[in-house]
Amino acid sequence: MFRNFKLVPNIIFGRGCFAQLDEIIEPRRENSNAWAVFVVDEVFKGKDLEGRIPLHDKDMLLWVNVDDEPKTAYVDRLTLEVKDHADALPCAVIGIGGGSSMDLAKSISLMLTNEGSSTLYQGWDLIQNPAVYHAAVPTLSGTGAEVSRTAVLTGPEKKLGLNSDYTVFDQVVLDPELTADVPKEQHFYTGMDCYIHCIESLQGTYLNEFSKAYGEKSLDLCRQVFLDQHPDSADKLMMASFFGGMSIAYSQVGACHALSYGLSFVLGTHHGVGCCITFDVLEEYYPEGVKEFRTMMDKCGVDIPRGLTKDLSQGDIETMITVALGLDPLWENCLGKDWKSVMTRDKARSLFLRM
Ligand SMILES: [Fe+2]
Repeated sequence: MFRNFKLVPNIIFGRGCFAQLDEIIEPRRENSNAWAVFVVDEVFKGKDLEGRIPLHDKDMLLWVNVDDEPKTAYVDRLTLEVKDHADALPCAVIGIGGGSSMDLAKSISLMLTNEGSSTLYQGWDLIQNPAVYHAAVPTLSGTGAEVSRTAVLTGPEKKLGLNSDYTVFDQVVLDPELTADVPKEQHFYTGMDCYIHCIESLQGTYLNEFSKAYGEKSLDLCRQVFLDQHPDSADKLMMASFFGGMSIAYSQVGACHALSYGLSFVLGTHHGVGCCITFDVLEEYYPEGVKEFRTMMDKCGVDIPRGLTKDLSQGDIETMITVALGLDPLWENCLGKDWKSVMTRDKARSLFLRM
């Protein structure tokens, strides 16, 4: 069976294109009561960007905190807040921020039209009803959240996304100017998320020409950004993120992402830095990629946290292993159908203990 891949239908790209957001949403405002909700990372409170959000009288500005990656309980609470804002549902949900803010916007738009808690929909194609129209304005490049069909959520039992065709954004606004103030570490960690998407996709057993075409271009752009430090890096990394997302959408990520999910489930480590910590111990599986990653780390003058697992209880380590090994498709992509004989619990444990 071939997957029938849902794409973002509308994309605008270019420095300063954020100024067109109001006119992009305008057609959604079908009557005088129509209102939109802007889901915005609270780091922008009081910043220049706050004043540029095209808010109308009845609109809602929903600040979100992404110190922790999105949790199902947080999504449920935010969805209620949005429902309480007016009698009718909003005409649009617009996420402004990095991967977590975009995933929150996706989740809210889905949960406004699907009954019950978001925990019920963690998995593949469990969403029943189409979401409210939703748009993304990334202010950080690398996660690929702007193009993916998932909204990654941590629930009481698992870290697993709301994967569905309805999750895909209706509109993406790619304005590289918005990424100008990202701190150096954050820029590197999130950029490496993209780099790792490329490596895992291009070295995976699920690879096909579709994924390869996007993955190779994304990898080339990552190298221009992190090895050559090209002057147009903001524009290049924004497109690398999009293309990296396109590449994994039709293939899969691999060992690094699987292990990083285990790490972040227990320690709450953010996705980008979690991927860097994990990738650094995977030279056995991605030898050239890890070598190049370390060169990029040197060039950018960034380091990664180490010794994260040394004081953890045995129970916590076992939980990490269980979460990581539960992601079958990622392992199959990395190691082939026989992956269970290679990535045993002992092997996974030895990798976690090096982080
Ligand atoms: Fe990722």
